[in-house]
Amino acid sequence: MTQNTSIAPILAEADVEAFLARDLAVVWHPCTQMREHRGELPLVPIRRGRGAWLEGMDGRRYLDAISSWWTNLFGHAHPVIAEAIGRQAAELEHVIYAGFAHEPGLRLAERLVALAPRSTSSPPLSRVFYGENGSAAIEIALKMSFHAHLNRGEGQRTRFIALENGYHGETLGALAVSDIPLFRRVYAPLLMEPCFAPSPDAFKAEAGETAEACARRAAAALAGLLEREGERIAALVMEPRVQCAGGMRMHHPIYLAEARRLCDAHGVHLIADEIAVGFGRTGTLFACEQAGVTPDFLCLSKGLTAGSLPLSAVLTHERVFEAFWSEDRSRGFLHSHSYTGNPIACAAANATLDLFAARDVIADNRVLAAKLAVAAGRFAGHPQLGELRQAGMILAFELVEDRASRRAYTDHPRRRALAAYRAGLEAGAVLRPLGNVLYWMPPYCIGDEEIEVLERATAAALEAYVRCA
Ligand SMILES: Cc1ncc(COP(=O)(O)O)c(C=O)c1O
Repeated sequence: MTQNTSIAPILAEADVEAFLARDLAVVWHPCTQMREHRGELPLVPIRRGRGAWLEGMDGRRYLDAISSWWTNLFGHAHPVIAEAIGRQAAELEHVIYAGFAHEPGLRLAERLVALAPRSTSSPPLSRVFYGENGSAAIEIALKMSFHAHLNRGEGQRTRFIALENGYHGETLGALAVSDIPLFRRVYAPLLMEPCFAPSPDAFKAEAGETAEACARRAAAALAGLLEREGERIAALVMEPRVQCAGGMRMHHPIYLAEARRLCDAHGVHLIADEIAVGFGRTGTLFACEQAGVTPDFLCLSKGLTAGSLPLSAVLTHERVFEAFWSEDRSRGFLHSHSYTGNPIACAAANATLDLFAARDVIADNRVLAAKLAVAAGRFAGHPQLGELRQAGMILAFELVEDRASRRAYTDHPRRRALAAYRAGLEAGAVLRPLGNVLYWMPPYCIGDEEIEVLERATAAALEAYVRCA
């Protein structure tokens, strides 16, 4: 890899300003109140990415501590992935995937089913349906679950169970099963109503209650809900181990094991949304492994291409697949996206799996996660730290006004989060707080030097959050 050449040169300050003016005149950025870009929230123009670093058009460098929305695994512009993308683009960039097949798509599907979580008590995941992003994967799983039940004569299963504080994406179906008020509330009149079950979130444990007991309590509530509604439920959809957008809230794996057992008892599918936590983030390749659970649907995206290209995959088993096997076309799964199974994206995903195969990434991450724990431990005594939690390569700092009661700040929450974000950037790292939660979810290539930057930036962000008024 050439480190110092780039197709995008460093720009003079006036040229950066001109670029920003052009951008703000025409581009509508995601998940943004655009007005903030005129004031408090600077848009950061990036010229290139290298390893764990993003490099600004003005030459400043930022450690990508959040892996660019949790997508990046092995660093930016990774040469192995870049090469695979280039090679595939020159060979076959795309072909309609209905009625046609290609090597990268087949190879990826074979590899994904071989890597998928397995258990003796559930059928193995053996079929792969591609989508283009995480939300599409959720839509696919929801529709497939309902339709499989319908084809089996259980058309009354029209409802889903989702967890409080869960997040599954922004399209109407995925948003409907999400419970982040900021994203959901406005669109609520348009959304189907799932049954929300209590989250097993260990931060919500009662005084003296262990994470496991808290998870069991939530599972008991799920049992009650299934007892009442079970016959009308198609699937339970949940994020195993960590509710990421919900503030990196973590739970004991027993909840997932209990959820599997309860779903089986009621003929309900289990949809594991590993879009954010898959591919090693929580310490195992898939979080489901920690509960010894095979879901009926496993939704993957983000790390699937190590953050290089949009792609998602929904894995399911033969029982679901067979429900669609028919001479009647309408009993088939007629869902499609134009770019389903895009060969370049599949080639990027295959290159990602090559990187996993080349070394024991999960074992190496254990060492890295221990180093991150030590670095984060530096803040353990901070009076405004309500909880420091970790699941593998995800670490979260819950900032509170009052440590004893763990009460969050109620004054200026948005201003505080913005101040923390800006202070992090000033200190050279992208830390994008989720409300009052600062977190680290870095690419797996960070070294000691980067961890020091992370520590410094976190100290600055934390202080900015606390001092903001
Ligand atoms: C758990 C989870 N599910 C689904 C999604 C939606 O994925 P996408 O943004 O690719 O649509 C996200 C995105 O952050 C996510 O964290």
